[in-house]
Amino acid sequence: MFSATPLLCALLLTSAAFGRPETWEERASSSFRGPCDQIAKAVSNASQVFFPPSTQYLSDIYHYAPSSTQESACSVEPGTTEDVSKILRILGSTRTPFAVKGGGHATNPGFSSTKGVQITLARFNRTKVNYKDRTVEVGAGLTWDQVYTALNSTKVNVVGGRIPGIGVAGLTLGGGYSYKSSQYGLAIDNVASYELVLPNGTITNVTSQDKDLWFGLRGVVTNFVLKSHPQAQIWAGIIFYSGTQLDAIKEAYATFQKSNDTKSSLLINLAYASGQFTITVMPFYDAPTPPPGIFDEFLAIPAILNTVSTRSFSDLFLNFTSLGLAAGGLRTFYGGIPVTRYSPAIFDAFKNLTVFWGTRLGALDKNASVITTLEPFANTLFSHGAPSAYPPDRSHVVFPSIASCQWSDVSLDATMARALRQTTDEARAAVLADGQNVSHAAIYVNYALFDTPLKDMYGANVPRLRKIRAEIDPEDVMGLAGGFKF
Ligand SMILES: Cc1cc2nc3c(=O)[nH]c(=O)nc-3n(C[C@H](O)[C@H](O)[C@H](O)COP(=O)(O)OP(=O)(O)OC[C@H]3O[C@@H](n4cnc5c(N)ncnc54)[C@H](O)[C@@H]3O)c2cc1C
Ligand SMILES: *[C@@H]1O[C@H](CO)[C@@H](O)[C@H](O)[C@H]1NC(C)=O
Ligand SMILES: *[C@@H]1O[C@H](CO)[C@@H](O)[C@H](O)[C@H]1NC(C)=O
Ligand SMILES: *[C@@H]1O[C@H](CO)[C@@H](O)[C@H](O)[C@H]1NC(C)=O
Ligand SMILES: *[C@@H]1O[C@H](CO)[C@@H](O)[C@H](O)[C@H]1NC(C)=O
Ligand SMILES: *[C@@H]1O[C@H](CO)[C@@H](O)[C@H](O)[C@H]1NC(C)=O
Ligand SMILES: *[C@@H]1O[C@H](CO)[C@@H](O)[C@H](O)[C@H]1NC(C)=O
Ligand SMILES: *[C@@H]1O[C@H](CO)[C@@H](O)[C@H](O)[C@H]1NC(C)=O
Ligand SMILES: *[C@@H]1O[C@H](CO)[C@@H](O)[C@H](O)[C@H]1NC(C)=O
Ligand SMILES: *[C@@H]1O[C@H](CO)[C@@H](O)[C@H](O)[C@H]1NC(C)=O
Ligand SMILES: *[C@@H]1O[C@H](CO)[C@@H](O)[C@H](O)[C@H]1NC(C)=O
Repeated sequence: MFSATPLLCALLLTSAAFGRPETWEERASSSFRGPCDQIAKAVSNASQVFFPPSTQYLSDIYHYAPSSTQESACSVEPGTTEDVSKILRILGSTRTPFAVKGGGHATNPGFSSTKGVQITLARFNRTKVNYKDRTVEVGAGLTWDQVYTALNSTKVNVVGGRIPGIGVAGLTLGGGYSYKSSQYGLAIDNVASYELVLPNGTITNVTSQDKDLWFGLRGVVTNFVLKSHPQAQIWAGIIFYSGTQLDAIKEAYATFQKSNDTKSSLLINLAYASGQFTITVMPFYDAPTPPPGIFDEFLAIPAILNTVSTRSFSDLFLNFTSLGLAAGGLRTFYGGIPVTRYSPAIFDAFKNLTVFWGTRLGALDKNASVITTLEPFANTLFSHGAPSAYPPDRSHVVFPSIASCQWSDVSLDATMARALRQTTDEARAAVLADGQNVSHAAIYVNYALFDTPLKDMYGANVPRLRKIRAEIDPEDVMGLAGGFKF
């Protein structure tokens, strides 16, 4: 998994994700049973292998989006880095397809799921504050809300995800946009070191001194050492509006955008579901009270529900969980749209696309919904970190907008993927039509649909990433796992 997630050949993925479901007999005769048994014998008692239909197995293969779940031959929960090393060696030497799951939020099928061996890192769940170094050690199996809860009483925090349930590992390795990114940069800019099991099983700690590995990370990360920042109470929440308030939201955004306050963050979702267009806004300020002017116009717009208040960082996530924001359960695809400026024309174009595709997909599946997101950050967003695989160009700020669709009917996966590709293409055309220079702007890896070409995410970094891949992983062991392929 590249310092931005790996690529799975789209063809392979299409047959894996969209083919006829295998019967139980076909699975039972799976040739991957051998490696499962081999792993079970090799690992220490800190680790365990599970088979269907055990509860542990089901939770190991579970994903936020059921469209990303596959029934693997077995699952393994390594409990030590040494066991991860043994497991990787077995998988590499037997050429067994496998997957590595952190928080399981990948919306591309086959990226952290497999028919082979599912590695789930849940046992890497330690959070430890090093006050002296101003770092926090975080296990690669944790979700961000678990980390925030563990840090609640410490007065320090890390730069991570904005919704409960997202994994530390996948978000960080792909880049990582946070409420704190205008202040401190991407999640990846706030990594001090990784504990990494290389594709050949060698265990190593990687820092920015390790130029190539740091840039084009390949292997399985077991622990992160993250930079910490002071944390007081915050002012944040979520506001639900009727879709009729779009013009007022546009004006409120224009005011927000002029404020240039790096402690502020804003996420705007335009949604079409059950025949209705709605808007949600997630304002955030990294202090108990925001200065006047930044969010006042949003607060003045009549809302359906407003949960914004002063609270601890982890209490914000508890509140989101209580509102159902962590709950997955619907099949889901994400597509990325780079935007440099959320002009009124972009709001209008995103609204049109949301309503148009929402109506169309809703006619196929009454549970279908379409959501587009607007994610503004400070112009200095990319100035906080060393060169990284993503973003390939840190000299121009780009906002990582999403178009996504959700649905229930399993037979519609291929239709939905095509619809979402069309939606993101149309959105990109609208951004270009708005006069924005995005023809070479990078799509955020963690939002990119599985068929996205490497150069659209990694730009000029692709040749270097391919070279690193060949040097560090000559046998292409990580190629047995899902993700964007180099
Ligand atoms: C509801 C929702 C909200 C989101 N919000 C945000 C957000 O606020 N900011 C943002 O930047 N992104 C966001 N995302 C995108 C998110 O960053 C990606 O989905 C990310 O991949 C999730 O990480 P994970 O560990 O949960 O995923 P997983 O599915 O577990 O893993 C994702 C990828 O990382 C690889 N991987 C996982 N663990 C390891 C490891 N230890 N070593 C090597 N490779 C590994 C997997 O193999 C896979 O390719 C959101 C996604 C969803 C669904
Ligand atoms: C696991 O093995 C170690 C020695 O390798 C032993 O000390 C420990 O008691 C074992 N734990 C369990 C739960 O069996
Ligand atoms: C970490 O996982 C272990 C084993 O699964 C569990 O016993 C422990 O409670 C977990 N710790 C935390 C902090 O979640
Ligand atoms: C987090 O800390 C705050 C105090 O800052 C406290 O009120 C709250 O109950 C704590 N939350 C949890 C989940 O411990
Ligand atoms: C990596 O660093 C951790 C502490 O952060 C240490 O416990 C571990 O032994 C190191 N591993 C290697 C291979 O140097
Ligand atoms: C905000 O930043 C922009 C661009 O950097 C600048 O033109 C504008 O004057 C700034 N506004 C304030 C209020 O500082
Ligand atoms: C979440 O916030 C809303 C509004 O402030 C409140 O009604 C609700 O009780 C909160 N839930 C939790 C769990 O904090
Ligand atoms: C949105 O659609 C409406 C009609 O449905 C059209 O009048 C308008 O021009 C469209 N706006 C954009 C920005 O595409
Ligand atoms: C929509 O969701 C409901 C409730 O989860 C489910 O019973 C129903 O089958 C779904 N509809 C379709 C078309 O799958
Ligand atoms: C457009 O963006 C590219 C980077 O994506 C940059 O190299 C180029 O200079 C920009 N062109 C203009 C006219 O700003
Ligand atoms: C494993 O791979 C690393 C990185 O390419 C290399 O430095 C190391 O020598 C390899 N170890 C073995 C035992 O082949």
